Amino acid sequence: MMTQALSVKSNYLMKSPEKSPEKIFVEYKNIKKNFGNVQILKGVDLRIDPGEKVAIIGPSGSGKTTLARMLMTLEKPTEGEILIEGEHLWKEEVNGKLVPASEKHFRKMRKNIGMVFQQYNLFPHMTILKNVMEAQVSVLGLAKSEAKEKAIEMLSKVGLANKLDAYPANLSGGQQQRVAIARALVMHPKIMLFDEVTAALDPELVGEVLQVIRDIASTGEMAMLLITHEMEFARQIADRIVFMADGVVVEEGTPEQIFKYPKHKRTQDFLQRFRSSSFLG
Ligand SMILES: Nc1ncnc2c1ncn2[C@@H]1O[C@H](COP(=O)(O)OP(=O)(O)O)[C@@H](O)[C@H]1O
Ligand SMILES: [Mg+2]
Repeated sequence: MMTQALSVKSNYLMKSPEKSPEKIFVEYKNIKKNFGNVQILKGVDLRIDPGEKVAIIGPSGSGKTTLARMLMTLEKPTEGEILIEGEHLWKEEVNGKLVPASEKHFRKMRKNIGMVFQQYNLFPHMTILKNVMEAQVSVLGLAKSEAKEKAIEMLSKVGLANKLDAYPANLSGGQQQRVAIARALVMHPKIMLFDEVTAALDPELVGEVLQVIRDIASTGEMAMLLITHEMEFARQIADRIVFMADGVVVEEGTPEQIFKYPKHKRTQDFLQRFRSSSFLG
């Protein structure tokens, strides 16, 4: 058993791409974020184990997207640390000292992470096939023939094998979102972040996208951080639910603990309001 694994630091990734199951995969430690004078994250601790599926729920404005963007290095913590497999994300070790991370360090660390947002952000001038090939060639350095093969395989998995030569504008929102998922997955990240990926979709297209994510989740080894308002979906696929409000984690636990037996009034109120509003829809 590798109980000492946590003390293995910066060269862990290079030496051993296989992680031990005991190891924490992603760790947010006392993360704070200010925008101007406003503190929108007030000391968040969050851990994600290898392969674990964690869903974050909570009201708009509670800081969920900002947390996810930090893992993509799109938003810098004002205070606190983020570690991926024990290695600092926002700092790197140079001559035995921790210094602010370089772009090169970010690029290396980001290879672990895939993200799909509410807006699909496909390249509008490229076919679906090219959209899914692009980063494999430019970031991973694969030959075009190999990138193409993998893109076709991944697009088949999300049910779009018959749309390879279509352009994004000719697809439905649900199809575009499935392309965005395929484009992230084909890079083989160790964790996928899904930030309200169905929020912009017409209701009848939500199901097909959630089904694709369920299928990915059921294959196991990849960790997931799901930010969602789809409570039933979160209950089905998450190992753990994290409820955030006003920049803090209010409580976390198994889906049963959070949805059936929430401890905090804030969580109870949120779920209550959520239940009544979804009846209105
Ligand atoms: N770049 C930014 N500049 C200023 N305020 C921001 C920025 N990004 C997010 N915020 C604010 O931070 C708060 C948390 O936002 P966000 O992380 O998007 O929350 P959530 O995803 O839970 O709705 C919101 O009040 C939002 O307006
Ligand atoms: Mg958000």
